[in-house]
Amino acid sequence: MSPIIYHDISSLREALQPYRGQQNDKQGRQQRIALVPTMGNLHDGHLELVKIAKQHADVVVVSIFVNPTQFGVGEDFDSYPRTLDADVAKLATVDADYVFAPSIDAMYPVLPPPTAVLSGAIANQLCGQSRPGHFDGVGIVVAKLFNIVQPDVAVFGQKDYQQLAIIKQLVRDLSYPINIIGAPIVRADDGLALSSRNQYLSANERQVAPVLHQALQELAQSLKSTALSQQAFDKLLVDTRTRISDAGFVIDYLEIKTDELGSIMSDSTTFNIENKNIVILVAAWLGRARLLDNQLVVVN
Ligand code: PAF
Repeated sequence: MSPIIYHDISSLREALQPYRGQQNDKQGRQQRIALVPTMGNLHDGHLELVKIAKQHADVVVVSIFVNPTQFGVGEDFDSYPRTLDADVAKLATVDADYVFAPSIDAMYPVLPPPTAVLSGAIANQLCGQSRPGHFDGVGIVVAKLFNIVQPDVAVFGQKDYQQLAIIKQLVRDLSYPINIIGAPIVRADDGLALSSRNQYLSANERQVAPVLHQALQELAQSLKSTALSQQAFDKLLVDTRTRISDAGFVIDYLEIKTDELGSIMSDSTTFNIENKNIVILVAAWLGRARLLDNQLVVVN
């Protein structure tokens, strides 16, 4: 069945009211509401988030909102694909219950909003360095969506690894009673992580794009299998950067962090990944598309 679409906050709240505090007939527990926040232009990765949400809740709300506050000057806010009808048709195939597609005015009575949701050090690295203010915009829109929908569960993709970490921090620091679920990256058959921005790739660039995932996988393998000196570690990073650049990417960053996005250096000079779960994170431009990917490495 096609999901019901709401464009304003009060109608959505009214529609969700009956679910709050209601017993689920089958199991006799409280009904649960899940939120899947998106900017639309949905692909199979988004549909996977909805499927996961359905496993954790009785009713699933998908928000579709191209959020102006998370785009910087000169970024693709104006050209970001807006495909509401096609999105709703796709959401019908996975039985999403409600779509919340507000206008900018409904979300931001005053733009830019004078109220800020800042995320501190975790947001000032990686994507936050090349997109200053981006995570402030994500923080405020996600906080607003949480307040509007008041979900029990919210599902975000692990492809945006830093975003997911920031949202978990937001939930902890603002005491939202929301279970945040990180959904595994969904990839095309050739390994490219699915993303709405993949459509900016030309046919040739699309052929090249899987190199990013391959390079991360190989680096992960080397990090896992070798007892590395600092020198060997540095060389691995240089070689991986060269491989990605030689394929035609312009690297924004390629970094290795602990899985909580801390430093992997045990002091300022020594590399030590013993007993640490680490994550390799990359952002790189291929033509007009800025692609993100990451790879977790579990070190035993
Ligand atoms: O990941 C996204 O699509 C966006 O950053 C989000 C979480 C929907 C906030 O606008």
